[in-house]
Amino acid sequence: MTSPKLTITSTLPLPNTPVTIPRLGFGVFESPGTQCVSSILAALSAGYRHIDTAQFYENETEVGLAIQQSGLPRSSLFITTKIDIAQGTVEKTYQSCLESVRKIDGERGYVDLFLVHTADVGREGRREIWAALERLYEEGKARAIGVSNYGVGHVEEMKGYARVWPPMVNQNELHPWCQQREIVAYCQKHGIVNQAYSPLAKNTKADDPTLNKIAGNNNVATTQVLIRYALQKGWTPLPKSVTPERIVQNADVYGFELTTEEMDILDGLDQGASGALLEAVSNELEEDD
Ligand SMILES: NC(=O)c1ccc[n+]([C@@H]2O[C@H](COP(=O)([O-])OP(=O)(O)OC[C@H]3O[C@@H](n4cnc5c(N)ncnc54)[C@H](OP(=O)(O)O)[C@@H]3O)[C@@H](O)[C@H]2O)c1
Repeated sequence: MTSPKLTITSTLPLPNTPVTIPRLGFGVFESPGTQCVSSILAALSAGYRHIDTAQFYENETEVGLAIQQSGLPRSSLFITTKIDIAQGTVEKTYQSCLESVRKIDGERGYVDLFLVHTADVGREGRREIWAALERLYEEGKARAIGVSNYGVGHVEEMKGYARVWPPMVNQNELHPWCQQREIVAYCQKHGIVNQAYSPLAKNTKADDPTLNKIAGNNNVATTQVLIRYALQKGWTPLPKSVTPERIVQNADVYGFELTTEEMDILDGLDQGASGALLEAVSNELEEDD
């Protein structure tokens, strides 16, 4: 996976579409109001072009404001949002998605990627949301569609109802302590891009001695090691920060490369499901799932 040629403009192809996704993204979970706008403007100044929001974050309007204020061409940006509530019918769910598109990019706008936020909405909810996203995709209101927090069983289940398969992206909690190897390998096999949320493990591992040793070897911050690790794994990390210096630092990860040995050491930190801060997916579908 290691590529010495990685840059901030590096992209990955999405399956069955000409659309590509910038490998480095920027998260805005828990970034309310003006903080969301200012953090996105700082990120765009630092060179990020990929922003990750969701209906649940209640800041889609602020993402739209930041896009407008940036003055950057819409086509140069990659904006993701997510839906976490099935409304009861495909039409109502589609309307909810359309409202997100309007908030982000206006009446005639689009989003680059629309994700099902969680598998935790029951079989009928998953089917209904996917049907709404397929309509959005076919109408060009979403240039790509995918899922989040889906295990192998959930993606396999989609074969029974999806017109668009595979989902182009699966966004999961991914960092050295939570590598979710089964679903990651499954996605790689099917060309599904693995997006890494909480790639900094929410900065809870800043004192980890192994991580600090590798950061010291490379003369960089622990958070820079974690972002570089995700990039070299072939994931698209979505680090979040509202702090201008950190936003710049998190994008400054192209002047060093982790060695194979360092990658192996970080791989060795995996704690399986118990390493998850938010969620490790279940790869088996349960009866009541
Ligand atoms: N699909 C899902 O279910 C899901 C779930 C969770 C997250 N996400 C997405 O993934 C994004 C990132 O995940 P996350 O917000 O959970 O966690 P994260 O990016 O791993 O960590 C964010 C935390 O790390 C701090 N931080 C950032 N850069 C730092 C640096 N250079 N040095 C020290 N601390 C630093 C931030 O503080 P400050 O902001 O105060 O600087 C914040 O407290 C989210 O914003 C969201 O877009 C998706």
